[in-house]
Amino acid sequence: MKRAGTGSGKTSQGAQPLLRRNEGFSGARGKAADGGDISPWEGLRLAAFVAARGFEDILLEELVRLSVRVLEVRERLVLAEAPEGEVPLPMWAQNVWLNPRFIRAESIGGFARGLTALQRNWHLHSTGFHRRAALIAEKCPHVSERPLRFGEPAPASPLGSWTLWAPDAALASPACSSPFPDGEVRFEEDKINPPSRAYLKLWELFTRFPEAKPAPGDLCLDLGACPGGWTWVLASLGAKVFALDKAPLHGRVAAMPGVTSCIGSGFGLDPRHAGAVDWLFSDMICYPSRLYEVIMRWEALGECKNFVCTLKCQGQTDFDVLERFASLPGSRVVHLSCNKHELTWLRLAAWRR
Ligand SMILES: C[S@@+](CC[C@H](N)C(=O)[O-])C[C@H]1O[C@@H](n2cnc3c(N)ncnc32)[C@H](O)[C@@H]1O
Repeated sequence: MKRAGTGSGKTSQGAQPLLRRNEGFSGARGKAADGGDISPWEGLRLAAFVAARGFEDILLEELVRLSVRVLEVRERLVLAEAPEGEVPLPMWAQNVWLNPRFIRAESIGGFARGLTALQRNWHLHSTGFHRRAALIAEKCPHVSERPLRFGEPAPASPLGSWTLWAPDAALASPACSSPFPDGEVRFEEDKINPPSRAYLKLWELFTRFPEAKPAPGDLCLDLGACPGGWTWVLASLGAKVFALDKAPLHGRVAAMPGVTSCIGSGFGLDPRHAGAVDWLFSDMICYPSRLYEVIMRWEALGECKNFVCTLKCQGQTDFDVLERFASLPGSRVVHLSCNKHELTWLRLAAWRR
């Protein structure tokens, strides 16, 4: 990974981020054993960001663009000084630790007591001292991490995250942006009905953002629908789906009640001819800049209330266009657990009110 400070974006007050990468173990251990400060950051308001798997460098680049001062990187975990105001939720972070602090203890039981004094539910994000960390986790109350059945709500109780920073110091955040361990949602999968695993993206989205779920009878346009995982989810919810792709939909999905399918290009579809829709879904393989042009055509006519689109990044990540999507009113851009080098943009009428 490259150093965060070498990205092309801005840094706070023009300062280079102070970055240490996996070099903190011995330093932190020495200081803690001496009884001195665990780290030079103990007095700071901290935040920590868990990168989507394999996208650590992109997250670092995004943090630099957000003027976040990175302190140290341990594998996927990026420790930073929290900027003033609300902690940002970067697009490429799978989970954000909103209020991490250091806890000191000498014994395994001491750590377990320290964690449970803060709250009941914890997830160990292990970045070092794995054996000792696992023994501490065993002493904490059990937290079920069983896969969800689609339709069940996301866990309502908060889930904290912690890591053993040094043998006698843990970094623990009682509040995190996601109620799922490391922000990763696992489902009891349906290996029979959907024709592709892409259905898991919508399952996750609808679980994390229930307001992003079409109601029965809503009219959904599904661009880039083949082989039909998304259409299958939408039709299973009782929505009416118009599915468009250059390739045909799987026959079983095409035959579902409420599904109409058509062969063609999403770029050639003229919103003036298509008419009003409640939802526009797109999982088309295309440059985000190209998709933005399509969305702007719909936006200009005001004929679509809600959008859910995959932004497929190819080659160098084009932050400028991703930020253009993110800044449309009522929008969020997130990385879903099964997104690869791609993000999901949601724009909901409910978020614009
Ligand atoms: C990742 S797949 C979509 C998977 C689908 N969402 C599912 O759940 O099964 C991407 C699809 O985009 C389609 N595609 C690419 N360019 C397109 C275009 N210009 N118009 C319509 N579909 C397009 C491809 O044919 C391909 O089927």
